[in-house]
Amino acid sequence: MPIDFLLEALSDGEFHSGDDLGRLAGVSRTAIWKRLKKVEELGIPLISIKGKGYCIEGGLELLRENKIRDGLSSSAKALIAEVDVNGVVTSTNELAMQKAVSGNSGYICVAEQQTSGRGRRGRHWVSPFGCNIYLSMVWEFTGGAAALEGLSLAVGVAVVDALSKIGVKGLQLKWPNDVLHDGKKLAGILLEMTGDAAGTCQVVVGVGLNITMPDASQAQIDQPWVGLSSVVAERVSRNEVLSLLLNELVPLLDDFEMHGFNKYRSQWQSLDAFQNKKVVVKLGADEIEGVSRGVDVSGALIVDTSEGARRFNGGEVSLRVV
Ligand code: BTN
Repeated sequence: MPIDFLLEALSDGEFHSGDDLGRLAGVSRTAIWKRLKKVEELGIPLISIKGKGYCIEGGLELLRENKIRDGLSSSAKALIAEVDVNGVVTSTNELAMQKAVSGNSGYICVAEQQTSGRGRRGRHWVSPFGCNIYLSMVWEFTGGAAALEGLSLAVGVAVVDALSKIGVKGLQLKWPNDVLHDGKKLAGILLEMTGDAAGTCQVVVGVGLNITMPDASQAQIDQPWVGLSSVVAERVSRNEVLSLLLNELVPLLDDFEMHGFNKYRSQWQSLDAFQNKKVVVKLGADEIEGVSRGVDVSGALIVDTSEGARRFNGGEVSLRVV
């Protein structure tokens, strides 16, 4: 009996007795008990009360392909080749990269949990089960790496657009592509590439969006963060948010090569959290101080320093406000 069955039964947040669950699944109470231990190991808050049974506090919305597809626009639907919904994976970007080496443009991968979620600059992306969004998309480009300049920044703009559809206000972007709410990180974006850097290449666009975090996961995050559930009034449906994200992101990927970052630049500038602020740019061992002046047409960050204006591309650069 897959654990998914138990999660589905308990997802309503109501109490279910071990006997009832066993009857439904056609297995013994002991078998149910063993599976429930596995559910707990995933970090899901399981309550057990003698005489009442088991319940997942607050219920749980599992990711479902049909629900994600139901919320897709006709243009996103037409561009998507596959929506691959997974339980526990190492990293959706890793899975997508494996697909990308043999093409697979339009492959979409989501998961309930990542055991080795990848962040920028080799960092770990905390990815507990069933509470956030871990999304990766494969897209093929023909103009090589040069045509992709600014793509990761444009993805940030699309994430903000998607979230504004459910009434999220006050979002900002931190170069190159952190999505912030009130200065705290709400979402992160990681692009990886394979193929010919001078010709046809596949890009994996990974988006991690915080919604809620169990206490144990919160303790692992080493930067100020925020979850979507604390910035919107209504209960957040992960399936719905995934559809909204795909409705913005897939058409963006489809037409990025034609328009480039220029189409998104002014919107990016208006969302820039650090515009005209004193910043420190960390580039390897170097720390460069200056005033942030937004981005140029290629998405490079412009900083006025004592030695004149300097341009920084993505990669290993990090930025903080003084
Ligand atoms: C960052 O450091 O800000 C980027 C975080 C990107 C996390 C997402 S979660 C989905 C996808 N799979 C990964 O392993 N990473 C990205």
